[in-house]
Amino acid sequence: MNKKLLKKIKTSFIEKFNANPLMIFSPGRVNLIGEHTDYNDGFVFPAAVDLGIILAIQKSNANISTAYAIDKDEEHIISTANLKPLKKGSWANYIIGVIAEIQNCGKTVKNFDLVFGGDIPGGAGMSSSAALENSVVFGLNVLFDLGLSKKEMILISQKAEHNFVGVKCGIMDQYASMFGIENNALLLDCRTIKSKAYKIDFQDYQLILINSNVKHSLTDSAYNDRRSVCETISKKLKVKALRDVTKNDLKKIQERVTPENYQKALYIIEENERVLRAAKAVTERDLKLLGKLLFQSHNGLQNQYKVSCDEIDFLVSKARANEHVLGARMMGGGFGGCTINLILTKHTKSFTIEVSKCYKEKFNIDCTVHAIRLSDGTKIIE
Ligand code: GLA
Repeated sequence: MNKKLLKKIKTSFIEKFNANPLMIFSPGRVNLIGEHTDYNDGFVFPAAVDLGIILAIQKSNANISTAYAIDKDEEHIISTANLKPLKKGSWANYIIGVIAEIQNCGKTVKNFDLVFGGDIPGGAGMSSSAALENSVVFGLNVLFDLGLSKKEMILISQKAEHNFVGVKCGIMDQYASMFGIENNALLLDCRTIKSKAYKIDFQDYQLILINSNVKHSLTDSAYNDRRSVCETISKKLKVKALRDVTKNDLKKIQERVTPENYQKALYIIEENERVLRAAKAVTERDLKLLGKLLFQSHNGLQNQYKVSCDEIDFLVSKARANEHVLGARMMGGGFGGCTINLILTKHTKSFTIEVSKCYKEKFNIDCTVHAIRLSDGTKIIE
């Protein structure tokens, strides 16, 4: 965690509100494999990382609550009665959404002040929004003794995202951010919301993210659209979610769906299988197979589920062409953000220098590289 940022946020809180805050860290996440499977009740394999949101929060005696976003230098005054979503894109939606959803659980949130900031690169698809939601619900739970379990907290964060931010996300991001374990990835069954931790021995390899530094604007609408395609096909198949069907089941209704939507559903079924194979590969220390599955996952995301973009495909193609990269794929919702790459540590530098150069030549954009450490989930730090 970023000690300098911690100090800055704490100092800012004390100066602004003249009180000693509770300090919380809530991480972003990576996802090894299992993209868009979470809202199909399927499997994902994410991990929390050491970048995240730092939140300073304390009760207030005022008759309003104040939230301050240090990175934007913006303040938002909240009255905790009758909360409604603000205009799209407002960061305060994450906070008021969490308060409103806590209230919907029949709990009372009194007034508070908070300051937050973070070091998750924006638009990288590393779930800064889930990290923020989790930090707020976690902080309020402690301050007002709400008695919420971690599972209840992530469901509140997810509902805030659905109803106040407007993205019908699955549970992966909130889960990974809340439940992360150092050096482990979590094989999460998104139906039962239970996970198994897998300690990963990366041997001579490491995970790096390459941020395309693009975020195409259709992200949210395309996301919701994919979700509704999956739900429509599930209905046709008379099951709760695509998690419940095999490729053979899908084949039976092939005539009744468009070829494009057929491929999308097929992708989900295949991706679920890949996640389980990836977890097994980790147990067997078979990083080569893990890498192969990452490339296959990207293929599906690019050609079947169609949530990638030129910039990301280019980064993955560079990874494919490099003998020291075992696997790579787009990560997160898509249409920009990062690729996740499994690469021989000693060749990371030469690879990233080469990729950055080619990427700049082709798109006139600088990409950025982050080495990833799998870390603990949301916690009190002071
Ligand atoms: C976003 C959503 C998640 C998940 C991923 C795609 O990060 O918030 O719930 O659906 O996209 O795997």
